[in-house]
Amino acid sequence: MGAILIKGGRLIDPASGRDEVVDILIEGERVSRIAPSIEVQERMEVIDAEGKWVLPGLVDVHVHLREPGYEYKEDIESGSKAAVAGGFTTICCKANTNPVNDTGAITRYIVERAKEVGLCRIYPVGAVSKGLKGEELAEIGDMVANGAVAVSDDGRPVWNSELMRRALEYTKYFGIPVVDHCEDLALSGDGVVHEGKYSAITGLKGIPASAEEVMVARDIILARETKGRLHIDHVSTAGSVKLIEMGKDEGVCLSCEVTPHHLALTDEVIVTFDTDTKVNPPLRGEEHVLAVREALEKGIIDIIATDHAPHGAIDKDVEYTKAAFGISGLETALGVVLKLVNEGALSLKRAIEAMTIAPARIFGLDAGYVAEGGPADIVVVDPDKEWVVDPSRFYSKGKNTPFKGWKLKGKVVITICNGKLVYKNGEVVS
Ligand code: DOR
Repeated sequence: MGAILIKGGRLIDPASGRDEVVDILIEGERVSRIAPSIEVQERMEVIDAEGKWVLPGLVDVHVHLREPGYEYKEDIESGSKAAVAGGFTTICCKANTNPVNDTGAITRYIVERAKEVGLCRIYPVGAVSKGLKGEELAEIGDMVANGAVAVSDDGRPVWNSELMRRALEYTKYFGIPVVDHCEDLALSGDGVVHEGKYSAITGLKGIPASAEEVMVARDIILARETKGRLHIDHVSTAGSVKLIEMGKDEGVCLSCEVTPHHLALTDEVIVTFDTDTKVNPPLRGEEHVLAVREALEKGIIDIIATDHAPHGAIDKDVEYTKAAFGISGLETALGVVLKLVNEGALSLKRAIEAMTIAPARIFGLDAGYVAEGGPADIVVVDPDKEWVVDPSRFYSKGKNTPFKGWKLKGKVVITICNGKLVYKNGEVVS
């Protein structure tokens, strides 16, 4: 494999605290040198990064790739393309496929198919319970042996407290987190939007903030008791933030994430009845949005994860009450987060940290940093490039985005994964 020289870009690497203009040389699958100036030599592919940012390849620990079983919504190939177009070089995919990823055989299938596609690094998250039913533990050891890096029933909560307790206890043996979608199903019922002013205005059935918070509290109590590792999916309420802060202050082994859509949108957008605004947990009221932004900045919320949930037209072109929950997020995540940075709602360093080294550390992945000898996973971003979100141009099969038509500033121009150029000039290079 030839060498790639990235010249004159601003390297922002929160892992090392570096923020400086440098040249970066990639040889094979590794970054071989970082220096103020590296001489161009024959057989080097040179990338002129002047005026651009050079970041670690982004890491997303919450992605639905839908394969096996729901390939009409997304598959490992289309999801990989969407990832690298969005600047992600490492993604973790959830288990709510068909069949569910609850055995080593399914985990191995995903790992092997991801390698065949070969665009980005894909790590499966196995199920906590067989069939996501919350009754019996899944084959956790078998899945870990085949490459699973965490377990989660996401899409559903682990409703059964006794099983959740056992999962937290058992996974200590493997050193992996139990990742929970916190939702009390009795409280959320058949709700479809946040319970508040806009559920009243639209007449759509509400999901109270307490549906999330009750489960966050339960999980923290169980993690404290078992000393297991808990990671909480898509935090969306001010009350959850308070509980998480309390848990962390007490020393519970606890981390959590927030999505770009919960950071950027309030429930006001549901007045359009656009089913692309329907997501679980629902978009919340302003006080919640401000609380999750502040918590992310302070580190109470550790990371940003997309909850990339692609769906087909058949799932979304229906009445609001019948539509599937979910937002296709890989190709808009960085742009939406940079909009918040440009508006002063988040700091740039914290935003990048929350999309690179912080998630890699929580999931124990060798990713999310740029250093000599480290993996050659790098993204080049043009911070001044303005673009309009046009889902018809997504690589993802999921065109379901509430950000369609948004004008964003800051775009991925190059993605390099494992030393290979996988995205360039707006195109995936397969
Ligand atoms: O909106 C959502 N969609 N939330 C989830 O937790 C699951 C996801 C999906 O799988 O579509």
